[in-house]
Amino acid sequence: MCGIVGCILAEKSASKKAFESLLRLKYRGYDSAGMAGIEDGKLVVKKDAGKLEEINQRINFLEITSNIVIGHTRWATHGAPTRENAHPHIDCNGEVAVVHNGVIENFQELKDELIESGHKFRSRTDTEVVPHLVEEGFKKGYDLFNSVLYAVKRIKGSYALAIISTREPDKIICVCNESPLIIGIGVDGMYCASDIPAILPYTNKIISLKNGEIAVLRHDSYIIRRILDGSPVTRSPQIIDWSPDVAMKQGYPHFMLKEIHEQPQSLRNGLRLQEKYLDLISLFMDRGKKIFIVAAGTSYHAGVAASYMFSKLAKVHVHPVVASEFIENYGDAIDIDTVVLAVSQSGETYDTLKAVDYARMRAATVIGITNTLGSTLTRVSRAYILQQAGPEIGVAATKTFTSQLIVLAQIALRLSKMRGKLSQDEIDEFKSKLHEIPDIVDEVIKSSESRVKEIVNKYRDENLFIFIGRGISTATALEGRLKLLEISYIPSIAYPAGESKHGPIAIIEEGVPVIVIAPNDSTRKDIIGNIMEMKARGARIISICEAGDREIAELSDDIIEIPRGVHELLTPIPYVIPLQLFAYYMAVEKGFNPDEPRNLAKSVTVP
Ligand code: F6R
Repeated sequence: MCGIVGCILAEKSASKKAFESLLRLKYRGYDSAGMAGIEDGKLVVKKDAGKLEEINQRINFLEITSNIVIGHTRWATHGAPTRENAHPHIDCNGEVAVVHNGVIENFQELKDELIESGHKFRSRTDTEVVPHLVEEGFKKGYDLFNSVLYAVKRIKGSYALAIISTREPDKIICVCNESPLIIGIGVDGMYCASDIPAILPYTNKIISLKNGEIAVLRHDSYIIRRILDGSPVTRSPQIIDWSPDVAMKQGYPHFMLKEIHEQPQSLRNGLRLQEKYLDLISLFMDRGKKIFIVAAGTSYHAGVAASYMFSKLAKVHVHPVVASEFIENYGDAIDIDTVVLAVSQSGETYDTLKAVDYARMRAATVIGITNTLGSTLTRVSRAYILQQAGPEIGVAATKTFTSQLIVLAQIALRLSKMRGKLSQDEIDEFKSKLHEIPDIVDEVIKSSESRVKEIVNKYRDENLFIFIGRGISTATALEGRLKLLEISYIPSIAYPAGESKHGPIAIIEEGVPVIVIAPNDSTRKDIIGNIMEMKARGARIISICEAGDREIAELSDDIIEIPRGVHELLTPIPYVIPLQLFAYYMAVEKGFNPDEPRNLAKSVTVP
C-alpha cells in the first residue's frame, strides 16, 4: 500500500498542498517519498528514501514552484526503499511523471519488451513500465489521454495512477483499478488522492473513482470516462462531513475496524505475487530435509494453519514453532539440511530474528514472509515474499494474518506442483477457490457485522471464553482467542477440540460460552461430537459454520454463517473474520481502545 496525491490549481502553490496531503497519507507508507511538478515547461522531480519530513528537510519539496504537482509516499513492494525506486517515475525523455499505488502483475514481461525496444529503466519497480508505455503512446502519435489509455490497456493488476506530462501541462490524468482513488473538487483547483483525509482540508466535495475509470483534471474542470469504451461517467460528488480524527481512519472509529474492512483488498493484493519468488521459495523448501515455520503471536497461528496446507497439498511435514522456543527446543537439530521459513509481519520481531540468526549460524537456509520490505528479515533471508497488505496501524494483527495465510497457501500449492503431488484438475480447483476468497471475505464482513454486535451484546458480561476447532480450524481458534484476549482483556483459552476430554472440559459448567469453529470439512462429524459433550455440561455454543448447516445450527445457541464452498484449507481466512469483529466490538463495548491494547507494542523488538 502506498499513498498518492495530485493537485492542479490556478496558482503556483501546488507543492505545498501536495506535501501537506502526503503528510496525511503517511499511514499508507513511509519508507520513501517524492513529488513532481512542471516548471517553465520542464518536469521537476524530487524524491528520496526515508521519512517524509526528513526528506523534505534535505531536498525541500516546497521549492517546486508549479500549479500542477503529483506526489507519493511509499510502502515498498517491488524494489527496496531507495531513491531510485521512490516515485514519481519518469519516461526516457523526462516528459512524463507517474505515481502509482498497487501492483502491476505483468511488469516483468512489459519491462523486458520495453528494454528490448530501447527504453532505459532506472528503478526496480513495477511502476516504471507506466511512463515508458505512455512514451510509446506518444511515439504512436497519441495525445496524453490516449497514450495513458494505451498504457493502462497493456498493464494487468491493481493501480491508482496520477500522471502528468510536459506535453500537456494543464492536466492530471488519474486512473483507477482495484486501488482506491478519489477526486476532490475544490474552489481553487482539482485534487486526487488515495483517500479522503489527504485532501479534506481543501475540499469536502469528493467523487470516488470506480474500477476501470479514467479522469482528466484541469484546474477548473474534470471529466471521468470508462477505460473500456471511453463513455463518459456522470457521478455527483459526495459532501463529506468527517472530523479530522475520523477522517484519518476513513470514517471508521478505529484503525483496527478499518483494517478488518480492508481485507478483501489486501487479499486481492496477496494473490498478485510474482511467480519467480514463489518458485524460488518453493525450491528452497523442496530441498530441505527438516522444515520449520518460525514465528510469534498471530504470525505463529498463520504458521500453524500453513502446516496443514503443506502437509495436505504438498505432502511435506512443516513444523510450526513459536520463535522464542525454537533454539531451546530444536537448536541442536538444526543443520545444513534445515530450512527455516520465518513469518513476521514487521520483519523485526526479536524472537523471530534471534531464531533466524541461530539457524543461519548453523548453515540452515532461511526464507521469509513479511509485510515490510527493507526490514531485517528481508536482509537476512535467502529469499522472501512480501505479503502486500500495506501498513497495519492497529496493534492487533488482522489483515496481515489473512494475507499471510493467502501467501502461505500459494507457496504450499507451488511446492505441491513442484513435487508432483496434485493433479492438474486439483491444482486448477484450488487456484479457483483461492481467487474466490477476497469476495467471500467481503460477503462475510457485510453479512456478519451486525450479527456479531448482537452476540457481543448478549455475552458482554462473560469473564471466560473457550475457542475450539479441529484440523486447520485449530489455528482459527487460536487466533480468535488471541484477538479477544489482547484487546478486550477477557481470559480465554483455545485448543484443538479433541483435547477437551484430556482436561479442559473440566472447566465447563452451566453457561460457559464456547466458540466453535465448525466449517463443513473432514473434521465436521467429530466437532459435532465435541459440541454435544460441551452442551451436555451446560456450555452455551456459538458456532461459526457453513451457511445452511442445520445440524450445527440446531445444536448451537448462536451461529454466524459463512458462505458455502470454501476449500477446507482456506477456511481460516473467512472464518477468522467474525472472530476479529467479535474481539473488536467486545473491546469497544467494554470501553477499551482496540488500537492500543495495554502492555503491547506493534513490533516487539526486545527480548
Ligand atoms: C497479535 C499480534 C502479535 C504479532 C507478533 C508477531 O495481534 O499482532 O501477536 O503477531 O508480535 O509480530 P510479527 O508478525 O511482526 O513478527
